[in-house]
Amino acid sequence: MSEELKKGLEGVVVAESSLSYIDGDAGRLIYRGYDIEDLAEGATFEEVVYLLWHGELPTESELSEFNESLVAARSVDDAVLDTVRALAEADEEPMAALRTLTSYLSAEDDADPEGGDLEAARRIGRKVTAKMPTVLAAFDRVRRGEEPLEPRDDLSHAANFLYMLTGAEPDPVAEETFDMALTLHADHGLNASTFTAMVIGSTLADLYSSVTGGIGALSGPLHGGANQDVMEMLLEIDDSGEDPVEFVERAREERENWRVPGMGHRVYNVKDPRAKILETKSKELGEASGDTKWYDMADAIEGYFAEKGLVEKGIAPNVDFYSGTVYYQLGIAVDMFTPIFAMSRVGGWIGHTLEYQEDNRLIRPRAHYTGETDREFPALGDR
Ligand code: COA
Repeated sequence: MSEELKKGLEGVVVAESSLSYIDGDAGRLIYRGYDIEDLAEGATFEEVVYLLWHGELPTESELSEFNESLVAARSVDDAVLDTVRALAEADEEPMAALRTLTSYLSAEDDADPEGGDLEAARRIGRKVTAKMPTVLAAFDRVRRGEEPLEPRDDLSHAANFLYMLTGAEPDPVAEETFDMALTLHADHGLNASTFTAMVIGSTLADLYSSVTGGIGALSGPLHGGANQDVMEMLLEIDDSGEDPVEFVERAREERENWRVPGMGHRVYNVKDPRAKILETKSKELGEASGDTKWYDMADAIEGYFAEKGLVEKGIAPNVDFYSGTVYYQLGIAVDMFTPIFAMSRVGGWIGHTLEYQEDNRLIRPRAHYTGETDREFPALGDR
């Protein structure tokens, strides 16, 4: 058998999928045939998740049934909240806490979470999607010395999360902006975390395992961590009082192979369409609060990249470049940005896992063996 090695599986097609399509040259992202701009503007996160899982946008009655099932699944039991407290006590990072808590959610599931059963997977999918915001918000509150809040059943997925985090009902602009950010992060082809979820699902393991694995893959700095890095860079610039362009120029000279976080993308050769939408939202939030500082800094850095001809080469803002400034202006802690990404991407993880399981085949690649053969076995005392 020929053994062509594709490091990092780059360019390898492993499945058919009708969930999302990326045109990296045109800067276009499509979910189930719909442009991301149209979905971000016109649909809620709940509608987008339904679309990803079912292939069609929900009708009004389908949506209200779907919403009801999510709302009904939002609460978690006391044992989960005890685990939240234990993790906060142990000073766990929010992303690691979310991973542990998501896995732990299976403990409060009375039904047998049988893998390979698509109906069971859809039920677990709704539960996990509904409960991830609850455990994440509870964790953030507990580590700040506050009591977790019961989810509200009269609020949307986005508004309820912001409410459980802050204790205040968000204003319509905050709700709409956060909802949009969730939609923009919900799916993006077979990225590393989605593929991880699919690989786990292909063994017919249950969906709790797929989602927990997805969170683990997303936690790495090469995948989900860049939105935090962008905000940390902007905070560092702000603290130093340096001009953002001078800071970036100096840092690029001083730090070998330094990559400006939030710039460049493996798939897009132009500005990421999601960055365009979040850029507008970042500016609007700044204008509404009377301080566009964070938007201005990011915009100046983008301007520098354009001036240096880098944007033309495809080193343009990706989704993370402006999302950090959006979350920060919504009052969210910087280390919550990647867990929020997980809270959204769970839509894609589940969608792809369900789609793959419809015509499942165990994912099991091979390695090109470079080790020795025919070695003589030495007894323990002879080694
Ligand atoms: N800042 C400065 N230069 C960058 C850059 C960045 N963020 N991203 C790419 N480049 C430059 C590289 O220095 C390299 O230049 P060279 O050919 O002169 O050495 C060239 O662009 C190609 O970079 P490369 O790392 O090979 O591209 P890639 O497709 O492998 O990398 C990323 C894509 C996303 C990993 C990379 O752009 C990056 O690290 N970006 C910052 C982190 C980030 O935002 N990650 C989230 C992605 S959604």
